Amino acid sequence: MNLLSLTTFLISLLHVLLPSTTAAPYNATDIIVLNCGASSTTTSLDGRKWEADLLFKYSPFNDKNASFPSNASSEHPSVPMVPYFSGRIIFKELIN
Ligand SMILES: *[C@@H]1O[C@H](CO)[C@@H](O)[C@H](O)[C@H]1NC(C)=O
Ligand SMILES: *[C@@H]1O[C@H](CO)[C@@H](O)[C@H](O)[C@H]1NC(C)=O
Ligand SMILES: *[C@@H]1O[C@H](CO)[C@@H](O)[C@H](O)[C@H]1NC(C)=O
Repeated sequence: MNLLSLTTFLISLLHVLLPSTTAAPYNATDIIVLNCGASSTTTSLDGRKWEADLLFKYSPFNDKNASFPSNASSEHPSVPMVPYFSGRIIFKELIN
């Protein structure tokens, strides 16, 4: 195999190995952003709406004793309140 045919072969191989388009392989029908520990829907600085995890329709929190919400005791000014101010502490298996 001379250099030219080797180069042609490698370029053809690249066409096979690399995807020909950059189209998304899957388009999500639901885009869900959950704010753990929040008690109501909130909006972050970038405009995204964050649903409170307890109010979320697919939430597995059937047993309220399995977890509890908690807020940060302090917040650094460079950290956005939504979604970093609240969290959920889970200490027991959640059953759906
Ligand atoms: C996802 O949506 C984009 C833009 O509408 C489209 O070009 C692409 O083909 C879609 N991909 C699938 C897997 O449906
Ligand atoms: C949650 O905890 C309370 C107080 O300990 C208890 O009375 C109740 O039965 C518990 N609920 C469940 C679903 O385990
Ligand atoms: C966290 O803070 C929010 C906003 O101040 C408040 O509504 C919520 O009750 C607090 N949650 C807890 C667990 O303290």
